[in-house]
Amino acid sequence: MKKLFKILGILLIIVFLFAAGGYIYLQAAFPKVSAAPDIKIEPTPERLERGKYLANSYAFCIDCHSSRDINKFSMPIVPGTEGKGGDDYGEGAGFVPASNITGDKETGLGNWTDGEIFRAITSGVNKEGKFLAPMMPYALFNKMDKEDLYSIIAYIRTLTPIKNKIPEKDLKFPVNLIFRTIPADVTEYGKRPDGLDKIKQGEYLGYGCKFCHSPSEKGDILPGKEFAGGMEFPMPDGTIIRSSNISPDKETGIGNMTKEMFMAKFKACINEANLDPKARGYNTPMAWNFIAKTSTDDDLSAIYDYLMSQKPVNNKVEKITLKGLK
Ligand code: HEC
Ligand code: HEC
Repeated sequence: MKKLFKILGILLIIVFLFAAGGYIYLQAAFPKVSAAPDIKIEPTPERLERGKYLANSYAFCIDCHSSRDINKFSMPIVPGTEGKGGDDYGEGAGFVPASNITGDKETGLGNWTDGEIFRAITSGVNKEGKFLAPMMPYALFNKMDKEDLYSIIAYIRTLTPIKNKIPEKDLKFPVNLIFRTIPADVTEYGKRPDGLDKIKQGEYLGYGCKFCHSPSEKGDILPGKEFAGGMEFPMPDGTIIRSSNISPDKETGIGNMTKEMFMAKFKACINEANLDPKARGYNTPMAWNFIAKTSTDDDLSAIYDYLMSQKPVNNKVEKITLKGLK
């Protein structure tokens, strides 16, 4: 018996040493990302215009990095808070406040180089090379055209500096270890389509839609389930809301929604009078107002064409579970 305890004890020590070694290894070896590129982005008028458009629409930068008004339908951003950060995107993983991306030198990106911002957006590490949580969707942004990324950086440099110190993120175990292994150098960037192929144009801009509207496991979208919906979003009032099936399935998706209906659903959310969550019976994380205010008709229409070109997936989604009614 004594011997058994001894063996067990030794085994335990070995397991412990492995675990501790693994922990120290993960801490020390990750993230593995190269030095920031040495670039100086010329803020040409074309870049500023394109960057402003993307950051305020399909790249969702300003949507996540500003204060959102939870008392209005689709939680529009609060004017004057553009880029100041602070809203929590941690969900199950812990506390992950969005960073201050204004040019404030002390609390924002004022002292970052263009290359450091570029590396953060595409590889997922901060100025010091420390990992960013993937709630900052860098793995999606590195599918964009480099020129579009330069435009976004040129534009966020023009945001009014706001002093707003963001607290450190606080991740739970084991995601605190897993997240640090995800940042990586980017080997290939995307290419902005020429605008002639509407489906490609919609696909290029619609990666954010795909991200929220596709069932995934450990961050990877389930093959064959693209746009089938069902991702859960806990709302501040305790309600659970799920993303809709926006595949062209006629029964459970948006196969019966015409382009006119699709565009009108967005356009209706420009008008403040239509943003009362009580009148609608629910609120939503889907940025109806944010996209509708900025998107060109051409881009929104291309996204519709792209969605309709996808495989219909039959998947009935229960949109809302009201608080207390589980
Ligand atoms: C879905 C929400 C979301 C979107 C969209 C998003 N971000 Fe972020 N971003 C975050 C969060 C959350 C963090 C903090 C991550 C952390 O601290 O680990 C962050 C961190 C950053 C950082 C690091 C700053 C620092 O001080 O470490 C930069 C730079 C940044 N984002 C820029 C952008 C730009 C530019 C865009 C658009 C191309 C963008 N973000 C889109 C949520 C988002
Ligand atoms: C932050 C996650 C999120 C993102 C990003 C997002 N959606 Fe949604 N979307 C939702 C949720 C949740 C719902 C269900 C609640 C509602 O109707 O607002 C929804 C609903 C919809 C509906 C309504 C479908 C119906 O049957 O009524 C459409 C259409 C839609 N989204 C299209 C899009 C498009 C196009 C994009 C990209 C431009 C997009 N969504 C981006 C979360 C998201």
